[in-house]
Amino acid sequence: MLYQSKIAGLGYYVPENVVTNEDLSKLMDTNDEWITERTGIKERRHIKEGDGNSTAIMGVKAAKIALERANIDKDDIDLIVFATLSPDYYFPGCGVQVQEMLDIKTCPALDVRNQCSGFIYGLSVADQFIKTGMYKNVLLIGSENHSGGLDMTTRGRGVSVIFGDGAGAAVLTRSNHNGQGILSTHLHSEGKHALELALKGPSTMHWVPELIEENPQEDIPYFPYMNGQYVFKNAVKRFSEVIIEGLQENGLEVADIDMLIPHQANLRISQFIQQKFKLKDEQVFNNIQKYGNTTAASIPIALTEAWEQGKIKDGDKIVLAAFGSGFTWASAVINW
Ligand code: UT7
Repeated sequence: MLYQSKIAGLGYYVPENVVTNEDLSKLMDTNDEWITERTGIKERRHIKEGDGNSTAIMGVKAAKIALERANIDKDDIDLIVFATLSPDYYFPGCGVQVQEMLDIKTCPALDVRNQCSGFIYGLSVADQFIKTGMYKNVLLIGSENHSGGLDMTTRGRGVSVIFGDGAGAAVLTRSNHNGQGILSTHLHSEGKHALELALKGPSTMHWVPELIEENPQEDIPYFPYMNGQYVFKNAVKRFSEVIIEGLQENGLEVADIDMLIPHQANLRISQFIQQKFKLKDEQVFNNIQKYGNTTAASIPIALTEAWEQGKIKDGDKIVLAAFGSGFTWASAVINW
């Protein structure tokens, strides 16, 4: 017999330090008009030196809120799943740091490396473990410290203005056989596009000393590279496909969507999807204007805010969808 999983509690945390488009224009040749017009972003949060935050620490802050709201004791967590592309250390992953910081006995901790799709990939992992009955409660976190690794000069402006820091968390638990919970998840990848959105070094192929020796300062490959327009075109195609795939799997129509929470990649991408599917404003949730693109954290932050604002009610059909580096893309359909 298969069980069903549901989200029992949500939480998010963003650093206090607000970085506006105006602030960025003092560091690089950019301006509020360009950023707003191309991305919809007005401000984002960046970790500030001395504020005590890191990817794992922000994840823990979000997790504590989610655990409290779920009313589930930390010691009843059977598995931690941590999605990030910006871990505190090359290894070990952030999952074990969370296990230690939350003082959860010796539960397993798993890191997911699927960038913007990381939260939905993690949700799928959590869902499978709960479905089979192996685990009852899973703590799922998406957290990113982008600001620690961005090129904040004009050279990096095509990438750096988009990304922000933050964390979101969900506690998943076994549902009571009433149909409430995760209905399905849909995961995809296409590795031939891997280097269209990538951070090549430092890595086992590009160690820092070698990079410094071999690369002039003008061409440092240890900042993220993004072929923006190419990513954009693929994103709108794959977002659309994977949303349809999720709906069809569950015999649902676009009109049945109560809330679509797209990964907050670019407001223009969300608007394109909204127009394509003829969704009303109240059927799509966006908060990229305030937080920028927080990669694996963007969906749990948006989901939490939508829930906090009373925009998600019991019985609603919630669709999550994401696309990003890999390329990877994914969707989830939830009966709230
Ligand atoms: O979440 C993971 C998935 N990521 C995405 O989905 C992102 C998808 N891509 C995008 O969102 C958009 O491609 C961007 C927002 C990244 C860029 O927008 P764009 O309309 O594709 O601009 P572009 O890269 O084609 O650049 C247009 C111009 C260039 O100048 P020239 O060559 O026309 O003179 C850039 O140098 O804008 C310039 N530019 C900027 N100007 C001011 C690039 N970045 C900036 C900037 N401020 N920050």
